[in-house]
Amino acid sequence: MVIEAGWHESVSEAPPSTRRHAVLRASGFSATLALAVLLSGCGGGSADVKAGGTIYAAQCARCHGDNGEGGAGPSLIGIARVFETAEGQERFVKNGGTGMPMFGQILSDDEIRNAVAYTRETFR
Ligand code: HEC
Repeated sequence: MVIEAGWHESVSEAPPSTRRHAVLRASGFSATLALAVLLSGCGGGSADVKAGGTIYAAQCARCHGDNGEGGAGPSLIGIARVFETAEGQERFVKNGGTGMPMFGQILSDDEIRNAVAYTRETFR
């Protein structure tokens, strides 16, 4: 009898704690969702990877290769691991480097953003 009462007690306590857990998980999920929406909103609109491919072929491939394999310039394969963010890579492309033109004087910000997105998506 005593054992049975104890069992009922623990069962009746189970639902509220389960519910609390579910609420915590749900709010964690919506926070993740909000962060994702916030991050995708950064940088003034999403890049056009397809348009970026056209720019890459016209402006970048002669030094970095049609498939990012490198040539006069270094290989861009795995470039998303070299530049943690697209913004950092866009800054580099704008300013150029030793033997690389300053594309900030040649291409618009949108064109650079698209070309960078293309390299990050395609050369993995
Ligand atoms: C005239 C040849 C040339 C052209 C054209 C060129 N690059 Fe480069 N690029 C280079 C050279 C050389 C470097 C190495 C520069 C340095 O380290 O200072 C480089 C470096 C880079 C890097 C950094 C690579 C790394 O691993 O650190 C990125 C990213 C890059 N280029 C992207 C581009 C993009 C995008 C374009 C087209 C918009 C482009 N490049 C056009 C020659 C070129």
